[in-house]
Amino acid sequence: MKSGRAEERKSGRAEERKSASQGSINVANQTIFEGDNLDIMRGMNSESVNLIYLDPPFNSKTDYAAPIGSQAAGAEFKDTWSLSDVDVTWLDLLETKHPQLNRVIQAAMTKSDKSYLIYMSVRLLEMKRLLTSTGCLYLHCDPTMSHYLKLILDAIFGRKNFLNEVIWHYRRWPSKQKNFQRMHDTIFRYAKGQDVVWNQLFDAVSHETAKRIKGGKKITTFFDEESGKKRIRPTEESSQGVPMRDVWDIKQIVGPTRERLGYPTQKPFALLERIIRASSNKGDVVLDPFCGCATTLAAADALDRQWVGIDISGKAAELIVRRIEAQQGLFRNICHRTDLPKRTDLGPLPKYNCETNRKTLYGGQGGYCAGCKTHFETHHLEVDHIIAKQSGGTDHLTNLQLLCGNCNRIKGDRGMAYLQTKLRA
Ligand SMILES: C[S@@+](CC[C@H](N)C(=O)[O-])C[C@H]1O[C@@H](n2cnc3c(N)ncnc32)[C@H](O)[C@@H]1O
Ligand SMILES: [Zn+2]
Repeated sequence: MKSGRAEERKSGRAEERKSASQGSINVANQTIFEGDNLDIMRGMNSESVNLIYLDPPFNSKTDYAAPIGSQAAGAEFKDTWSLSDVDVTWLDLLETKHPQLNRVIQAAMTKSDKSYLIYMSVRLLEMKRLLTSTGCLYLHCDPTMSHYLKLILDAIFGRKNFLNEVIWHYRRWPSKQKNFQRMHDTIFRYAKGQDVVWNQLFDAVSHETAKRIKGGKKITTFFDEESGKKRIRPTEESSQGVPMRDVWDIKQIVGPTRERLGYPTQKPFALLERIIRASSNKGDVVLDPFCGCATTLAAADALDRQWVGIDISGKAAELIVRRIEAQQGLFRNICHRTDLPKRTDLGPLPKYNCETNRKTLYGGQGGYCAGCKTHFETHHLEVDHIIAKQSGGTDHLTNLQLLCGNCNRIKGDRGMAYLQTKLRA
């Protein structure tokens, strides 16, 4: 029979309790959540993750399915978007709490693009909250939406926290088309703040240089008086190579290789290994909220990082457990959860309509009702949950606003979009 502690570890709740006093991660190391990452991230403690890599759907207008017979058979996800995919509470959140970000979203050309950006924005806001002050985020995308996503990231993280646009260059079977053949993806790197974890990585020196300088030594430049030119010569020190550039040549997973699991959109292990090495240290927590067949988790595991993965697909979760267990051999510590974690870093929240909350909200809104935008004295405004409690909204200040009595009654437990439609009618 399993001991109580073993059961706790399996359920991941042991860590939740332990971290209550530490204010750190409230999810056990090596947890795979099966579910929507928005709900799951909302249950994770702030500033508890050192590195986030996400490879979300790209709005490619394609629905993906793994080939029958592959290890990933049965896994599928959709990448077509319409306004019906957008939860009205997300719109409310963006309109009321993030107007600058909302303006960027409204710049999108089509309803499908807007829906996709709303979907991504609410999740990226949570990711920023989860990062530690020295953490950073890598967002993997392609040219379909990269230009919009960069604006969204600028609005969320701040332009000054943009660090890199990495080009992942791969080769494909050449095909003639009325276009230059696309052979790259884009990976944006943003920091949470000014001080960010960074481990310098190196590329091998170019073939040309290697031919001229033998023996793998560091190179120094000197002024050659005879020729009047700047020249290079080897020193006694061994060279680590040249500081890594932002264009990465890494093979795509194609054809039958050991690495290939058949999961649609599987990324190379080498790509994730590079990201994790550069932007985290041993023991750090790595999160992949769209983890697919767990390339990030497998690389984090191999590099002695802690990891948490989320995927909405049950098939992905099943595959991940198999992949990591095969890699870990006997150490089967993976925790597969389908429930939501509970934050332990909020402490006891004050009552949602307490005087302090009312004062902060009144100041934030400048005394205007968040619905009809009429100015009122404070005693005529009521505290409202932006996302209703029955839909998972909390009493936390970030989920509260002030409405006049009339607006509050019209809105009830519905979203702001409903209230605005009613006010316009
Ligand atoms: C592009 S794939 C990721 C592939 C992954 N990087 C790999 O190497 O296997 C995107 C993944 O996001 C998952 N996904 C889509 N929407 C999600 C959501 N709301 N929450 C969690 N996972 C989601 C899909 O099931 C899919 O596995
Ligand atoms: Zn009102």
